[in-house]
Amino acid sequence: MAMKMPAEEKYKEKKKILVVDDYLPTRRLIVDALEQSSQYEVNEAENGEEALQLFNKNNYDLVISDIMMPGMSGMDLLNRIREKNLFAAVIMITGNPTVDLTVSAIKKGAVDFLTKPFDIDDLLFKVDIHLRGKKLLSKEGAEIIQDQANLKDKSDELSKQGYIFDSIEDSPLDNDVIFEKIAALALKLVDGEVCSILLFDEQDNEFHPKVVKGEAEEINRNYTHSSALKMVFNEVVDRKEAVMISSNEHQDISPSLICAPLMIRNSILGILSIRKKKNREIFNKKDLHHILSLTKRASLNLENKILYESIYSNIMDTLKSLISSIQARDHYTEEHSQRVTEMSLRIAAQMGCSMKDMESLKIAGVLHDVGKIATPDSILLKPDKLTLEEFLIIKNHPTIGENILRPVVLLEKERKIIECHHERWDGKGYPWGISGTEIPFLARILSVADSFDAMTNNRPYRPAMPVEEAIEELGKNKNTQFDEDVVNAFIKIL
Ligand SMILES: [Fe+2]
Repeated sequence: MAMKMPAEEKYKEKKKILVVDDYLPTRRLIVDALEQSSQYEVNEAENGEEALQLFNKNNYDLVISDIMMPGMSGMDLLNRIREKNLFAAVIMITGNPTVDLTVSAIKKGAVDFLTKPFDIDDLLFKVDIHLRGKKLLSKEGAEIIQDQANLKDKSDELSKQGYIFDSIEDSPLDNDVIFEKIAALALKLVDGEVCSILLFDEQDNEFHPKVVKGEAEEINRNYTHSSALKMVFNEVVDRKEAVMISSNEHQDISPSLICAPLMIRNSILGILSIRKKKNREIFNKKDLHHILSLTKRASLNLENKILYESIYSNIMDTLKSLISSIQARDHYTEEHSQRVTEMSLRIAAQMGCSMKDMESLKIAGVLHDVGKIATPDSILLKPDKLTLEEFLIIKNHPTIGENILRPVVLLEKERKIIECHHERWDGKGYPWGISGTEIPFLARILSVADSFDAMTNNRPYRPAMPVEEAIEELGKNKNTQFDEDVVNAFIKIL
Protein backbone atom coordinates (compact mmCIF):
# COMPACT_ATOMS: atom_id res chain seq x y z
CA MET A 1 0.00 0.00 0.00
CA ALA A 2 1.28 3.39 -0.85
CA MET A 3 1.93 5.68 2.04
CA LYS A 4 2.29 9.30 1.12
CA MET A 5 3.44 11.94 3.50
CA PRO A 6 2.98 15.66 3.11
CA ALA A 7 6.31 17.06 2.00
CA GLU A 8 6.36 19.85 4.56
CA GLU A 9 4.87 20.49 7.93
CA LYS A 10 3.49 23.93 8.60
CA TYR A 11 5.63 26.07 10.81
CA LYS A 12 4.84 25.73 14.45
CA GLU A 13 6.29 29.02 15.70
CA LYS A 14 6.01 32.38 14.00
CA LYS A 15 8.93 33.44 11.86
CA LYS A 16 10.27 36.94 12.42
CA ILE A 17 10.65 39.13 9.38
CA LEU A 18 12.03 42.67 9.13
CA VAL A 19 10.99 44.86 6.18
CA VAL A 20 13.24 47.83 5.39
CA ASP A 21 12.26 50.46 2.83
CA ASP A 22 12.30 54.25 2.99
CA TYR A 23 9.33 54.43 0.61
CA LEU A 24 6.24 53.99 2.72
CA PRO A 25 3.81 52.64 0.05
CA THR A 26 6.19 49.80 -0.90
CA ARG A 27 6.91 49.02 2.73
CA ARG A 28 3.21 48.90 3.58
CA LEU A 29 2.46 46.71 0.59
CA ILE A 30 5.04 44.14 1.71
CA VAL A 31 4.13 44.29 5.40
CA ASP A 32 0.40 43.96 4.65
CA ALA A 33 0.97 40.99 2.36
CA LEU A 34 3.14 39.22 4.93
CA GLU A 35 0.71 39.95 7.74
CA GLN A 36 -2.04 38.19 5.80
CA SER A 37 -0.27 35.05 6.84
CA SER A 38 -0.51 34.10 10.48
CA GLN A 39 2.90 32.41 10.18
CA TYR A 40 4.91 35.63 10.29
CA GLU A 41 5.65 38.29 12.82
CA VAL A 42 6.58 41.38 10.86
CA ASN A 43 8.49 44.51 11.89
CA GLU A 44 9.35 47.43 9.67
CA ALA A 45 12.05 50.07 9.48
CA GLU A 46 12.30 53.11 7.25
CA ASN A 47 16.06 53.22 7.03
CA GLY A 48 19.19 51.14 7.55
CA GLU A 49 20.07 52.59 10.95
CA GLU A 50 16.63 51.85 12.36
CA ALA A 51 16.76 48.37 10.82
CA LEU A 52 20.09 47.66 12.45
CA GLN A 53 18.82 48.72 15.87
CA LEU A 54 15.88 46.37 15.50
CA PHE A 55 18.14 43.62 14.21
CA ASN A 56 20.36 43.95 17.28
CA LYS A 57 17.37 43.49 19.57
CA ASN A 58 15.52 40.75 17.71
CA ASN A 59 16.48 37.51 16.20
CA TYR A 60 15.09 37.88 12.67
CA ASP A 61 14.82 34.88 10.41
CA LEU A 62 14.54 37.00 7.32
CA VAL A 63 15.22 40.60 6.29
CA ILE A 64 13.72 42.13 3.18
CA SER A 65 15.51 45.35 2.30
CA ASP A 66 15.46 47.97 -0.39
CA ILE A 67 18.93 48.72 -1.77
CA MET A 68 18.59 52.43 -2.52
CA MET A 69 17.91 54.24 0.73
CA PRO A 70 19.15 57.55 2.08
CA GLY A 71 21.82 57.16 4.74
CA MET A 72 22.83 53.55 5.19
CA SER A 73 22.19 51.76 1.89
CA GLY A 74 20.71 48.28 1.64
CA MET A 75 24.16 46.95 0.74
CA ASP A 76 25.71 48.48 3.86
CA LEU A 77 22.89 47.02 5.88
CA LEU A 78 23.51 43.61 4.32
CA ASN A 79 27.17 43.86 5.35
CA ARG A 80 26.31 44.79 8.91
CA ILE A 81 23.75 42.01 9.18
CA ARG A 82 26.28 39.48 7.90
CA GLU A 83 28.76 40.64 10.55
CA LYS A 84 26.20 39.90 13.24
CA ASN A 85 24.46 36.83 11.93
CA LEU A 86 25.80 34.63 9.18
CA PHE A 87 22.57 32.72 8.82
CA ALA A 88 19.85 35.37 8.58
CA ALA A 89 18.37 35.26 5.11
CA VAL A 90 18.33 38.62 3.32
CA ILE A 91 16.27 39.38 0.23
CA MET A 92 17.22 42.59 -1.58
CA ILE A 93 14.82 44.76 -3.53
CA THR A 94 16.01 47.11 -6.20
CA GLY A 95 14.39 49.45 -8.68
CA ASN A 96 17.55 49.55 -10.70
CA PRO A 97 19.09 46.07 -11.05
CA THR A 98 22.55 47.01 -12.28
CA VAL A 99 25.24 44.42 -12.74
CA ASP A 100 27.33 45.94 -9.96
CA LEU A 101 24.63 45.82 -7.36
CA THR A 102 23.26 42.43 -8.22
CA VAL A 103 26.55 40.67 -8.31
CA SER A 104 28.04 42.29 -5.28
CA ALA A 105 24.86 41.49 -3.35
CA ILE A 106 25.23 37.82 -4.38
CA LYS A 107 28.82 37.90 -3.21
CA LYS A 108 27.88 39.53 0.07
CA GLY A 109 25.38 36.80 0.78
CA ALA A 110 21.94 38.06 -0.24
CA VAL A 111 19.82 34.98 -0.83
CA ASP A 112 17.56 36.54 -3.39
CA PHE A 113 16.45 39.62 -5.32
CA LEU A 114 13.30 41.31 -6.36
CA THR A 115 13.13 43.97 -9.00
CA LYS A 116 10.63 46.80 -8.61
CA PRO A 117 7.84 46.70 -9.56
CA PHE A 118 7.53 43.20 -8.22
CA ASP A 119 4.72 40.72 -8.00
CA ILE A 120 3.69 40.34 -4.38
CA ASP A 121 3.03 36.62 -4.90
CA ASP A 122 6.59 36.26 -6.10
CA LEU A 123 7.78 37.90 -2.90
CA LEU A 124 5.62 35.65 -0.73
CA PHE A 125 6.89 32.60 -2.58
CA LYS A 126 10.49 33.59 -2.01
CA VAL A 127 9.88 34.36 1.64
CA ASP A 128 8.31 30.96 2.09
CA ILE A 129 11.12 29.14 0.30
CA HIS A 130 13.90 30.85 2.25
CA LEU A 131 12.23 30.38 5.59
CA ARG A 132 11.61 26.72 4.88
CA GLY A 133 15.23 26.26 3.86
CA LYS A 134 16.28 27.86 7.13
CA LYS A 135 13.92 25.73 9.17
CA LEU A 136 15.27 22.58 7.62
CA LEU A 137 18.82 23.59 8.36
CA SER A 138 18.09 24.57 11.94
CA LYS A 139 16.26 21.30 12.43
CA GLU A 140 19.30 19.45 11.24
CA GLY A 141 21.32 21.52 13.68
CA ALA A 142 19.12 20.42 16.55
CA GLU A 143 19.48 16.79 15.55
CA ILE A 144 23.23 17.13 15.56
CA ILE A 145 23.22 18.27 19.15
CA GLN A 146 20.75 15.59 20.16
CA ASP A 147 22.55 12.74 18.59
CA GLN A 148 26.20 13.00 19.63
CA ALA A 149 27.01 9.63 18.15
CA ASN A 150 26.12 10.87 14.71
CA LEU A 151 27.84 14.18 15.15
CA LYS A 152 30.59 13.57 12.67
CA ASP A 153 28.37 12.08 10.01
CA LYS A 154 25.90 14.87 10.28
CA SER A 155 28.43 17.65 10.12
CA ASP A 156 29.97 15.88 7.15
CA GLU A 157 26.56 15.96 5.53
CA LEU A 158 26.13 19.62 6.24
CA SER A 159 29.53 20.38 4.90
CA LYS A 160 28.61 18.37 1.83
CA GLN A 161 25.66 20.63 1.41
CA GLY A 162 27.90 23.66 1.75
CA TYR A 163 29.99 22.00 -0.91
CA ILE A 164 27.11 22.30 -3.38
CA PHE A 165 27.39 26.02 -3.27
CA ASP A 166 31.15 25.84 -3.73
CA SER A 167 30.83 23.31 -6.54
CA ILE A 168 28.40 25.51 -8.36
CA GLU A 169 30.60 28.53 -7.77
CA ASP A 170 33.57 26.58 -9.06
CA SER A 171 31.97 25.50 -12.29
CA PRO A 172 30.51 28.66 -13.74
CA LEU A 173 30.26 27.26 -17.25
CA ASP A 174 28.80 23.82 -16.94
CA ASN A 175 25.31 23.03 -15.71
CA ASP A 176 25.83 19.31 -16.36
CA VAL A 177 28.60 19.19 -13.80
CA ILE A 178 26.32 20.79 -11.26
CA PHE A 179 23.55 18.26 -11.89
CA GLU A 180 26.04 15.40 -11.60
CA LYS A 181 27.22 16.77 -8.28
CA ILE A 182 23.72 17.26 -6.93
CA ALA A 183 22.79 13.68 -7.82
CA ALA A 184 25.97 12.25 -6.31
CA LEU A 185 25.42 14.22 -3.15
CA ALA A 186 21.80 13.13 -2.85
CA LEU A 187 22.87 9.47 -3.07
CA LYS A 188 25.38 9.94 -0.28
CA LEU A 189 23.06 11.94 1.94
CA VAL A 190 20.25 9.41 2.13
CA ASP A 191 21.84 6.12 1.18
CA GLY A 192 20.13 6.02 -2.20
CA GLU A 193 20.54 3.40 -4.86
CA VAL A 194 19.76 5.51 -7.88
CA CYS A 195 19.21 9.21 -8.29
CA SER A 196 18.07 10.92 -11.43
CA ILE A 197 17.61 14.52 -12.34
CA LEU A 198 15.09 15.14 -15.08
CA LEU A 199 14.43 18.46 -16.72
CA PHE A 200 10.81 19.28 -17.24
CA ASP A 201 9.64 20.55 -20.61
CA GLU A 202 6.46 22.49 -20.04
CA GLN A 203 5.64 22.60 -23.77
CA ASP A 204 5.32 18.88 -24.30
CA ASN A 205 4.81 17.98 -20.64
CA GLU A 206 7.75 15.61 -20.84
CA PHE A 207 10.58 14.79 -18.45
CA HIS A 208 14.02 14.55 -20.01
CA PRO A 209 16.61 12.66 -17.98
CA LYS A 210 19.68 14.81 -17.48
CA VAL A 211 21.60 12.67 -15.05
CA VAL A 212 21.08 9.14 -13.80
CA LYS A 213 23.50 8.14 -11.12
CA GLY A 214 23.91 5.23 -8.79
CA GLU A 215 24.68 1.55 -8.68
CA ALA A 216 24.16 -0.26 -11.99
CA GLU A 217 23.55 2.99 -13.83
CA GLU A 218 22.87 1.27 -17.14
CA ILE A 219 19.98 -0.78 -15.83
CA ASN A 220 18.73 2.18 -13.94
CA ARG A 221 18.50 4.34 -17.01
CA ASN A 222 15.22 2.57 -17.77
CA TYR A 223 13.93 3.45 -14.39
CA THR A 224 13.19 7.03 -15.39
CA HIS A 225 10.77 5.80 -18.04
CA SER A 226 8.38 3.74 -15.95
CA SER A 227 4.77 4.84 -16.02
CA ALA A 228 4.45 4.59 -12.24
CA LEU A 229 7.25 7.12 -11.90
CA LYS A 230 5.75 9.41 -14.48
CA MET A 231 2.62 9.63 -12.39
CA VAL A 232 4.67 10.62 -9.37
CA PHE A 233 6.63 13.17 -11.39
CA ASN A 234 3.40 14.70 -12.67
CA GLU A 235 2.15 14.97 -9.15
CA VAL A 236 5.32 16.81 -8.09
CA VAL A 237 4.89 19.21 -11.00
CA ASP A 238 1.21 19.83 -10.20
CA ARG A 239 1.78 20.37 -6.51
CA LYS A 240 5.18 22.02 -6.81
CA GLU A 241 6.08 20.04 -3.74
CA ALA A 242 8.15 17.01 -2.92
CA VAL A 243 6.56 13.60 -2.63
CA MET A 244 7.80 10.71 -0.55
CA ILE A 245 6.43 7.29 -1.33
CA SER A 246 7.10 4.01 0.28
CA SER A 247 5.41 1.18 -1.49
CA ASN A 248 5.55 -2.38 -2.63
CA GLU A 249 2.94 -1.76 -5.25
CA HIS A 250 5.29 -0.89 -8.04
CA GLN A 251 8.50 -2.71 -8.55
CA ASP A 252 10.10 0.48 -9.79
CA ILE A 253 9.34 2.32 -6.62
CA SER A 254 10.20 -0.35 -4.12
CA PRO A 255 11.29 0.07 -1.44
CA SER A 256 10.98 3.83 -1.20
CA LEU A 257 11.21 6.97 -3.30
CA ILE A 258 11.55 10.72 -2.87
CA CYS A 259 10.84 13.12 -5.72
CA ALA A 260 11.55 16.79 -5.15
CA PRO A 261 11.16 19.73 -7.52
CA LEU A 262 14.01 21.95 -8.69
CA MET A 263 12.41 25.35 -8.97
CA ILE A 264 13.51 28.47 -10.77
CA ARG A 265 11.40 31.46 -9.84
CA ASN A 266 7.98 29.94 -9.44
CA SER A 267 8.27 27.33 -12.14
CA ILE A 268 9.56 23.79 -12.28
CA LEU A 269 12.97 23.42 -13.85
CA GLY A 270 13.13 19.73 -13.15
CA ILE A 271 12.81 16.94 -10.66
CA LEU A 272 15.25 15.13 -8.49
CA SER A 273 14.12 11.58 -7.97
CA ILE A 274 15.91 9.23 -5.64
CA ARG A 275 15.27 5.59 -4.72
CA LYS A 276 16.40 3.94 -1.53
CA LYS A 277 18.75 0.96 -1.69
CA LYS A 278 16.96 -2.36 -1.91
CA ASN A 279 16.67 -4.38 1.31
CA ARG A 280 17.07 -1.24 3.38
CA GLU A 281 14.62 0.61 5.52
CA ILE A 282 12.33 2.98 3.72
CA PHE A 283 13.08 6.69 3.53
CA ASN A 284 12.13 8.63 6.63
CA LYS A 285 11.31 12.26 7.33
CA LYS A 286 14.92 13.05 8.01
CA ASP A 287 15.85 11.83 4.55
CA LEU A 288 13.14 13.99 3.08
CA HIS A 289 14.51 17.00 4.93
CA HIS A 290 17.98 16.34 3.59
CA ILE A 291 16.75 16.05 0.04
CA LEU A 292 14.60 19.15 0.37
CA SER A 293 17.39 21.28 1.74
CA LEU A 294 19.60 19.98 -1.05
CA THR A 295 17.12 20.72 -3.85
CA LYS A 296 16.25 24.11 -2.43
CA ARG A 297 19.84 25.20 -2.19
CA ALA A 298 20.52 23.80 -5.60
CA SER A 299 17.49 25.64 -6.99
CA LEU A 300 18.60 28.94 -5.54
CA ASN A 301 22.11 28.49 -6.76
CA LEU A 302 20.98 27.49 -10.23
CA GLU A 303 18.75 30.53 -10.32
CA ASN A 304 21.60 32.82 -9.29
CA LYS A 305 23.85 31.09 -11.75
CA ILE A 306 21.43 31.63 -14.62
CA LEU A 307 21.18 35.28 -13.63
CA TYR A 308 24.96 35.46 -13.46
CA GLU A 309 25.31 33.76 -16.83
CA SER A 310 22.94 36.10 -18.58
CA ILE A 311 24.71 39.12 -17.13
CA TYR A 312 28.05 37.55 -17.97
CA SER A 313 27.18 36.82 -21.59
CA ASN A 314 25.86 40.37 -22.05
CA ILE A 315 29.09 41.73 -20.71
CA MET A 316 31.20 39.46 -22.89
CA ASP A 317 29.23 40.56 -25.98
CA THR A 318 29.86 44.19 -25.09
CA LEU A 319 33.54 43.54 -24.54
CA LYS A 320 33.87 41.64 -27.80
CA SER A 321 32.43 44.59 -29.68
CA LEU A 322 34.93 46.78 -27.88
CA ILE A 323 37.75 44.57 -29.14
CA SER A 324 36.33 44.65 -32.66
CA SER A 325 36.35 48.43 -32.55
CA ILE A 326 40.06 48.30 -31.75
CA GLN A 327 40.57 45.83 -34.55
CA ALA A 328 38.92 48.26 -36.97
CA ARG A 329 41.85 50.59 -36.27
CA ASP A 330 44.60 48.11 -35.57
CA HIS A 331 44.61 44.50 -36.76
CA TYR A 332 47.77 43.78 -34.85
CA THR A 333 46.19 44.34 -31.42
CA GLU A 334 43.41 41.83 -32.01
CA GLU A 335 45.56 39.10 -33.52
CA HIS A 336 48.24 39.69 -30.91
CA SER A 337 45.62 39.40 -28.13
CA GLN A 338 44.43 36.06 -29.52
CA ARG A 339 47.93 34.63 -29.72
CA VAL A 340 48.84 35.90 -26.26
CA THR A 341 45.70 34.31 -24.84
CA GLU A 342 46.50 30.94 -26.40
CA MET A 343 50.10 31.02 -25.23
CA SER A 344 49.13 32.12 -21.72
CA LEU A 345 46.64 29.27 -21.46
CA ARG A 346 49.29 26.76 -22.47
CA ILE A 347 51.70 28.10 -19.88
CA ALA A 348 48.95 28.06 -17.25
CA ALA A 349 48.09 24.44 -18.10
CA GLN A 350 51.77 23.50 -17.90
CA MET A 351 51.97 25.14 -14.47
CA GLY A 352 48.90 23.26 -13.21
CA CYS A 353 46.52 26.24 -12.92
CA SER A 354 42.88 25.61 -12.01
CA MET A 355 40.01 25.82 -14.49
CA LYS A 356 38.94 29.03 -12.80
CA ASP A 357 42.36 30.58 -13.40
CA MET A 358 42.28 29.46 -17.02
CA GLU A 359 38.91 31.17 -17.45
CA SER A 360 40.29 34.37 -15.96
CA LEU A 361 43.31 34.20 -18.19
CA LYS A 362 41.14 33.68 -21.25
CA ILE A 363 39.26 36.90 -20.53
CA ALA A 364 42.30 38.90 -19.42
CA GLY A 365 44.30 37.69 -22.43
CA VAL A 366 41.73 38.82 -24.96
CA LEU A 367 41.26 42.16 -23.20
CA HIS A 368 44.76 42.91 -21.96
CA ASP A 369 45.35 45.77 -24.41
CA VAL A 370 41.78 47.07 -24.40
CA GLY A 371 43.10 50.32 -22.89
CA LYS A 372 44.78 51.06 -26.21
CA ILE A 373 41.37 52.22 -27.37
CA ALA A 374 42.35 55.54 -25.82
CA THR A 375 45.70 55.71 -27.62
CA PRO A 376 45.60 58.13 -30.58
CA ASP A 377 46.03 56.59 -34.05
CA SER A 378 49.11 58.73 -34.59
CA ILE A 379 50.84 56.78 -31.81
CA LEU A 380 49.14 53.38 -32.10
CA LEU A 381 49.79 53.10 -35.83
CA LYS A 382 53.08 54.98 -35.98
CA PRO A 383 55.49 53.22 -38.33
CA ASP A 384 58.58 54.62 -36.57
CA LYS A 385 59.98 54.23 -33.09
CA LEU A 386 57.99 56.05 -30.43
CA THR A 387 59.32 59.20 -28.78
CA LEU A 388 59.59 59.23 -25.01
CA GLU A 389 56.42 61.33 -24.77
CA GLU A 390 54.51 58.97 -27.01
CA PHE A 391 55.72 56.04 -25.00
CA LEU A 392 54.46 57.70 -21.82
CA ILE A 393 51.01 57.93 -23.40
CA ILE A 394 51.01 54.31 -24.47
CA LYS A 395 52.11 53.31 -20.97
CA ASN A 396 48.71 54.40 -19.70
CA HIS A 397 46.94 51.54 -21.46
CA PRO A 398 46.99 49.01 -18.57
CA THR A 399 45.38 51.53 -16.21
CA ILE A 400 42.89 52.68 -18.83
CA GLY A 401 42.00 49.05 -19.53
CA GLU A 402 41.40 48.48 -15.84
CA ASN A 403 39.25 51.62 -15.71
CA ILE A 404 37.15 50.55 -18.68
CA LEU A 405 36.36 47.25 -16.98
CA ARG A 406 35.90 48.66 -13.50
CA PRO A 407 32.09 48.88 -13.70
CA VAL A 408 32.08 45.14 -14.36
CA VAL A 409 32.51 43.91 -10.81
CA LEU A 410 32.42 40.34 -12.09
CA LEU A 411 35.84 40.78 -13.61
CA GLU A 412 37.74 41.90 -10.53
CA LYS A 413 40.50 39.32 -10.91
CA GLU A 414 40.81 39.82 -14.65
CA ARG A 415 41.06 43.59 -14.20
CA LYS A 416 44.00 43.15 -11.88
CA ILE A 417 45.77 40.96 -14.44
CA ILE A 418 45.20 43.53 -17.16
CA GLU A 419 46.41 46.32 -14.94
CA CYS A 420 49.61 44.46 -14.11
CA HIS A 421 50.59 42.89 -17.44
CA HIS A 422 53.48 45.33 -17.90
CA GLU A 423 54.83 45.04 -14.38
CA ARG A 424 58.27 43.48 -14.09
CA TRP A 425 59.64 40.93 -11.64
CA ASP A 426 62.36 43.44 -10.57
CA GLY A 427 59.84 46.23 -9.95
CA LYS A 428 60.92 48.32 -12.95
CA GLY A 429 57.68 47.88 -14.85
CA TYR A 430 54.56 50.01 -15.03
CA PRO A 431 52.05 51.32 -13.95
CA TRP A 432 52.87 50.68 -10.27
CA GLY A 433 56.39 49.33 -10.22
CA ILE A 434 55.40 46.41 -8.02
CA SER A 435 57.73 43.42 -7.98
CA GLY A 436 58.00 39.66 -7.51
CA THR A 437 54.99 37.91 -6.08
CA GLU A 438 53.24 41.23 -5.53
CA ILE A 439 52.41 40.95 -9.22
CA PRO A 440 49.42 38.64 -9.66
CA PHE A 441 50.61 35.24 -10.82
CA LEU A 442 48.39 35.21 -13.91
CA ALA A 443 49.73 38.66 -14.88
CA ARG A 444 53.26 37.22 -14.72
CA ILE A 445 52.19 34.50 -17.14
CA LEU A 446 50.52 37.00 -19.45
CA SER A 447 53.61 39.19 -19.38
CA VAL A 448 55.86 36.39 -20.69
CA ALA A 449 53.41 35.45 -23.46
CA ASP A 450 52.91 39.12 -24.34
CA SER A 451 56.61 39.88 -24.65
CA PHE A 452 57.34 36.70 -26.60
CA ASP A 453 54.59 37.45 -29.09
CA ALA A 454 55.69 41.06 -29.50
CA MET A 455 59.26 39.92 -30.14
CA THR A 456 58.39 37.23 -32.66
CA ASN A 457 56.08 39.33 -34.84
CA ASN A 458 56.76 42.08 -37.32
CA ARG A 459 56.10 45.56 -36.07
CA PRO A 460 56.02 48.63 -38.30
CA TYR A 461 59.21 49.87 -36.66
CA ARG A 462 61.17 46.58 -36.58
CA PRO A 463 61.15 43.11 -38.10
CA ALA A 464 60.22 39.92 -36.19
CA MET A 465 62.91 38.25 -34.12
CA PRO A 466 63.57 34.54 -34.78
CA VAL A 467 61.97 32.24 -32.18
CA GLU A 468 65.35 30.96 -30.91
CA GLU A 469 66.54 34.47 -30.31
CA ALA A 470 63.32 35.40 -28.50
CA ILE A 471 63.69 32.35 -26.25
CA GLU A 472 67.22 33.41 -25.48
CA GLU A 473 65.96 36.87 -24.66
CA LEU A 474 63.38 35.44 -22.23
CA GLY A 475 66.09 33.33 -20.61
CA LYS A 476 68.33 36.37 -20.19
CA ASN A 477 65.56 38.30 -18.48
CA LYS A 478 64.59 35.67 -15.92
CA ASN A 479 64.36 37.28 -12.49
CA THR A 480 64.75 40.78 -13.94
CA GLN A 481 61.80 41.27 -16.26
CA PHE A 482 60.12 37.88 -15.83
CA ASP A 483 59.23 35.32 -13.22
CA GLU A 484 61.80 32.54 -13.68
CA ASP A 485 59.28 29.74 -13.10
CA VAL A 486 56.97 31.08 -15.79
CA VAL A 487 59.80 31.41 -18.31
CA ASN A 488 60.95 27.85 -17.54
CA ALA A 489 57.43 26.51 -18.01
CA PHE A 490 57.11 28.39 -21.28
CA ILE A 491 60.41 27.13 -22.63
CA LYS A 492 59.35 23.60 -21.76
CA ILE A 493 56.22 23.95 -23.91
CA LEU A 494 58.16 25.42 -26.80
FE1 LIG B 1 50.04 45.75 -23.27
